[in-house]
Amino acid sequence: MFSAMKLLSVLSSAALLVSAAPAAPKVCDASAATMNLPAGQSLIVAPTTGPKFVALGVGVQNYTCDAATSKYTSVGAVASLFDISCLVKTPAFANIQTVAQMAWSVLPPKVSATTIGEKLGAPALLGFHYFIPNPITGTGLSPKWDFTSTGKFKGDASAFIVAAKAANIAAPQDSAKNVDWLMLNNVQGSLATQVFRVDTVNGQPPTSCTPGSANISVKYTSKYFLY
Ligand SMILES: *[C@@H]1O[C@H](CO)[C@@H](O)[C@H](O)[C@H]1NC(C)=O
Ligand SMILES: *[C@@H]1O[C@H](CO)[C@@H](O)[C@H](O)[C@H]1NC(C)=O
Repeated sequence: MFSAMKLLSVLSSAALLVSAAPAAPKVCDASAATMNLPAGQSLIVAPTTGPKFVALGVGVQNYTCDAATSKYTSVGAVASLFDISCLVKTPAFANIQTVAQMAWSVLPPKVSATTIGEKLGAPALLGFHYFIPNPITGTGLSPKWDFTSTGKFKGDASAFIVAAKAANIAAPQDSAKNVDWLMLNNVQGSLATQVFRVDTVNGQPPTSCTPGSANISVKYTSKYFLY
């Protein structure tokens, strides 16, 4: 027979389980965030409205060796996107990409970028950035920011943006190491109309390569502003 004592103990351990479940990560209003664009350039233009999302990207830029030039060329990227909206009004916002890169760069290659979240106070995982075949022309690759598989938009099939590059500038600091800053416009999806990649840390390939050598992945972090 299932005793009252036993039932009580089952109930209280269930209550414990519920109270021990992790709280959903806090999400804040991103619209007050501003990009720290370099002065004296007019290629990357900040929209006049605030962003819908500000994300920290942690991932890799992939390259293949072009045998004709002995230089690396880009073959896409993969990154985890963490919500940093709650840092917008704190001093930590400015350098979060540098802090993340310090943690990311020392992790063994097999360890996923999503684990970086735990080291940064567990911000919400908004989604993933990766490349797909160009959906319009069918040739080449297009970058996608995809929030459909995790977090608040999980299951919402339209919560993505595929974009096309509209402008790029060299990173204002250490552009031999840090990948370009970009402005991209919507091609597909209803998540945003524009994406900006700024505050990049690392991601550039070595200056030359040996024809026939393997593809490489170079770890990088950056901020992504989605408007
Ligand atoms: C990039 O390289 C990583 C391994 O470092 C791989 O998991 C990923 O599929 C590659 N992505 C592309 C677009 O080449
Ligand atoms: C490098 O990546 C490209 C594009 O993803 C792929 O076509 C090629 O087979 C890869 N090369 C090697 C050596 O793995």
